[in-house]
Amino acid sequence: MITIKKLSKSYVDNSSNQKVFENLTYEFESKGVYSVVGSSGSGKTTLLNLISGLDNFESGSIQVFNQNLGKLSVEEKSALRQKYFGFGYQFHYLLENLSIYENCLAANFGEDNGNINPTLKQLGIEKIKNKFPSKISGGEKQRASIARALSKKPKVLILDEPTGNLDQENSLVVQDFLLDFAKENDSLVIYATHDVRFAKRADKSLNIIEHSIVQE
Ligand SMILES: Nc1ncnc2c1ncn2[C@@H]1O[C@H](COP(=O)(O)OP(=O)(O)OP(=O)(O)O)[C@@H](O)[C@H]1O
Ligand SMILES: [Mg+2]
Repeated sequence: MITIKKLSKSYVDNSSNQKVFENLTYEFESKGVYSVVGSSGSGKTTLLNLISGLDNFESGSIQVFNQNLGKLSVEEKSALRQKYFGFGYQFHYLLENLSIYENCLAANFGEDNGNINPTLKQLGIEKIKNKFPSKISGGEKQRASIARALSKKPKVLILDEPTGNLDQENSLVVQDFLLDFAKENDSLVIYATHDVRFAKRADKSLNIIEHSIVQE
């Protein structure tokens, strides 16, 4: 369960003060599928970074599995992510000197690796598993990043525009796969997307409007 209370977040630099969230309160249940929509620059990626402890905030609180992110050290937040979270990000951050399969292994932290090959197969990228990230297409990288995020079967799966680089057919493959994953593993899945139809397939759709969340 992730509980956000009275959260305010701005980006401040010398020249400007960019307010992203103001007095935001929202609770994610411990399982289920949530989509996050909102115009470009509204704060979708920022929200995902905040709840995973990758970004700081000025005031309010975020509780992740009963731990208060504002009170944890950088190392403790990292341990929390390692234990519970999987990430598939807009810019995929695959390790360039590891093959796709090895990228999945590395994210698995020595846990059971038996899930990696079936995941690659279901996402239609088994045939490129021994290639390096620089030798595959953008859409293949995106699916590789999702496979990596899923291979350790995280309790919380965070995805930033997971279908952004995909054609319609592969987008649907990924959508079906993610929704099935959430159901089968009782996971919490939170994804940001610009795809309205994909957003509607979530149990709950959150729209970021005027520095807050409107649930649709
Ligand atoms: N590291 C940063 N430093 C300063 N401002 C930032 C930073 N990251 C994001 N912002 C600003 O915060 C606001 C929210 O950005 P964010 O990336 O969360 O938007 P988004 O909804 O994910 O947009 P998109 O749909 O384009 O990915 C934007 O105005 C952006 O310019
Ligand atoms: Mg974004």
